[in-house]
Amino acid sequence: MNIDPKSPIGVFDSGVGGLTVVRALMERLPFENIIYFGDTARVPYGVKSVETIAHYTTQIAQFLLQKDVKLLIIACNTMAAVAAQMVKDLSAVPVLDVIDAGAVGAVAASQSRRIGVIGTPTTINSNAYARAIHEYDADMRIYSQACPLFVPLVEEGWLEHEVTRLTAQEYLRPVLAQDIDTMVLGCTHYPLLKPLLQEVSGEDVQLVDSAEAMAEQTAALLAERQLANAQRSMPSYEFYVTDVPLRFQTIGERFLGRSLANVHVVKW
Ligand code: DGL
Repeated sequence: MNIDPKSPIGVFDSGVGGLTVVRALMERLPFENIIYFGDTARVPYGVKSVETIAHYTTQIAQFLLQKDVKLLIIACNTMAAVAAQMVKDLSAVPVLDVIDAGAVGAVAASQSRRIGVIGTPTTINSNAYARAIHEYDADMRIYSQACPLFVPLVEEGWLEHEVTRLTAQEYLRPVLAQDIDTMVLGCTHYPLLKPLLQEVSGEDVQLVDSAEAMAEQTAALLAERQLANAQRSMPSYEFYVTDVPLRFQTIGERFLGRSLANVHVVKW
């Protein structure tokens, strides 16, 4: 298949959280066109069954492939945890996922080979991060913890709130007790909690932001396959969502770090 380097990168997530990945991509690859899909009508995925997530994921991947994307990025950790292989099987263009990117970042960062992973219940129960990390280094010790309250707290904007700090202390206590030196932020929402999580974890724990890791991996793949957009004009950014819920604009802009325009609603 002939892939056009000028084609957009397709990024998708269960909602607006994947905009943390778009933000990292915009900063790392400022000339790439991007199409984003957020399933805002059906979010959250992190507490849904594997079958349901797999069904939704296929639907979204097919939608983006019809838009002639040159690369698919699964920005949602939960989707990547349970349906990455399915997306790879149906896609003619390369597929990258945040879990693999986070695993590479964690293996590179850890000296003590003791890594913590935090994410949604579905991501943690799937054990996908441990599998991905062990593919790169079978001797890594992984300690994981589901943090279901972090997604609503971030959406509420309580990024430095005392309630969030207490919640983080409670969730992280068992993982930090394992003497880890690296912790993977295995959910789209967690990069926004980075300052607070760093404070709670202490300076000796390196946080791996899977959005940044994803942007690095994307840059490497585009260079390797000669798929980088050579044009130096202003890129186009398009956003597709399945619903425009209350406070969509505010929350979306918090994740993206800039104003959110060109939003289209898809009715399924
Ligand atoms: N995007 C999800 C993730 O990265 C978090 C939100 C959800 O539960 O759908 O796991």
